[in-house]
Amino acid sequence: WYANVHETRGMPWRKPYDPALGPEERSQRAYEVWISEIMLQQTQVATVIPYYNAWMTKFPTIRHLAASDIDTVNGLWKGLGYYSRAARLLSGAKKVVDELGGRLPNNAKDMESKIPGVGRYSAGAICSIAYNECVPVLDGNVHRLLSRVLALHAPPKAKQSLDILWAGATSMVEGSDRPGDLNQALIELGSTVCKVRDPSCTTCPLRQWCRAHTCQNANKITSGAND
Ligand code: ADE
Repeated sequence: WYANVHETRGMPWRKPYDPALGPEERSQRAYEVWISEIMLQQTQVATVIPYYNAWMTKFPTIRHLAASDIDTVNGLWKGLGYYSRAARLLSGAKKVVDELGGRLPNNAKDMESKIPGVGRYSAGAICSIAYNECVPVLDGNVHRLLSRVLALHAPPKAKQSLDILWAGATSMVEGSDRPGDLNQALIELGSTVCKVRDPSCTTCPLRQWCRAHTCQNANKITSGAND
């Protein structure tokens, strides 16, 4: 059902996974996806695209970023909001260059523990997309989507709910040969089809597996981490 997610739909950070890349090129891919995912955290795709392109022109590699300063970085971020994201990208790049040999960690566990501002969601997104690692993502939109697929009636932010949803996201991505495409399909479906109100169930490729749809109560399950 996610066969077409490799289509970039104008997103410059989307490139097919290439298993032939060496360690330096893999880190470069992770750098590109890291920047895009941090920009996309609180901002819509269409807004992010020109900022991402300007950023990559100014800082084509993590070494260019690490050699910069907070004023330059904030200047490029102007208009995106949540400036702490930009500061953490700069400090993360400096740490990678000063302490980690200039390469981003090569797996999600190390990415989350070593890179400031990268939590479980971002580590999963970066490593599934850039490295083809079978690790899950759960942002606010995927939270709502999986709550509906599983018809989870529980307080959305309760630890028990999060455990169930992370386990659901994990079981979906485990064994996938294209975990990055799968995760990006979930993210996109969550933000464009499985909307908070009036989700477009008739066009949803997951409807046949969705308990909220088959029970006709998708509208009643609106839980998403940010709703
Ligand atoms: N939002 C967050 N990450 C995304 C991605 N990789 N593609 C589309 N939208 C996103």
